[in-house]
Amino acid sequence: MAIIVGGPASNNIDSKLAEMLNIPCVKLEHKIFPDGESYIRFPETEKIMGNDVIIVQSLYSPQDKHIFELLLAIDAAKDFGAKNIIVVAPYLAYSRQDRRFLEGEPISVKTLLKLIKHSGAEYFITVDIHKEYSLEHFGRNAYNVTAMEEIAKHIRENIELRNAIVLAPDKGALSHAMKVAEVLGGIEYDYLEKKRDPITGEIKVKPKELPVKEREVIIVDDIISTGGTIALAAKSVREQGARKVIVGCTHALLVGNAREKLRKAKIDYIVATDTVPSEYSKVSVAPPIAKVLKNILKF
Ligand code: R5P
Repeated sequence: MAIIVGGPASNNIDSKLAEMLNIPCVKLEHKIFPDGESYIRFPETEKIMGNDVIIVQSLYSPQDKHIFELLLAIDAAKDFGAKNIIVVAPYLAYSRQDRRFLEGEPISVKTLLKLIKHSGAEYFITVDIHKEYSLEHFGRNAYNVTAMEEIAKHIRENIELRNAIVLAPDKGALSHAMKVAEVLGGIEYDYLEKKRDPITGEIKVKPKELPVKEREVIIVDDIISTGGTIALAAKSVREQGARKVIVGCTHALLVGNAREKLRKAKIDYIVATDTVPSEYSKVSVAPPIAKVLKNILKF
C-alpha cells in the first residue's frame, strides 16, 4: 500500500495526488517553536509501517525552513518503518546554483539533493528543474516532469490565439518554448538573447529582430524570481509591435518588487502553476507528477 503525506509546504498538491491515485493522504502537524526551530509530527504512524510513503513538500520561501521540515519528515518516516520513501518537491530550491559560477562557491543543488537522499529518500520527483543534469546528484531514481503541457493547455483554453509565437527569454528555456509550441499545434518558437552579470545579477536582453509584429507572443520560462527577465523580454517584444503578451511560467517566486515590474511591463496575461502559491497559480502540476508516481508504484 502507498500513502501520501502532505508537508507544511505541499500547497494542496498532496490532496490532488491522493485523489488522482486513489490512495490515502495525511497532513503533517507542524509548528514553529518560540526560538524559531521547526516541529513536525506524523498524526497516524501506524499508516507508515511497511508502506510506500510519498512525502510532498515544495521548497519555496522560506526555503531553508521547508527543506529542514522535509528532512525531519523523511527521517521520521524511516523510523516509523516506511518501506520506500518517495519525495515530491514540486519546486526545488537552490536549483539555479547548479555549478560553481565563481571559484569558492558550493554547488548548492548538489548539497540539497545529497541531504534528501542521505536522509532516506529512495525516489525523488520535481517539476521543471532549472537544469536537468542536476538530478545526477541524487542518483538513479530521480525524475523531472514538465508543467509546460498543462500551461499550454491552459493558454489554449483561455486566450484567443490568431497567429501566436512562443518565445523563451533565453536559450536555456528553449525546450520549454518548444514544448508549449508543440501543444499549441506546432506553432513557431524562438528565443531572446539574455546575459546576466554573475556578480551584480543585472540582466541585459540583446536586441534581436523577431517576427512578433501584430502577433500574440507567449513568453515561457521555468522561474519568475525578481521579474527582471520576463519584464525585459515583455518590453522588448512590445517595442517590436507584439499585439498581446502572454506569460507562462512554472515557478512564480515573485520576490521583492517583482509584481510591480510585471505590472509595468504591461503583460496581458500571466499563468503559473501551484508549485509556489501565488495569484497566478492557475494550473496544477499534480497530473504530470501522478503519471510518474503510477510508474514507480506500478499502478
Ligand atoms: C534563469 O536562467 C531562469 O530560467 C529565469 O529566467 C530566472 O531565474 C528568472 O529570474 P528573474 O525573474 O530574477 O529575472
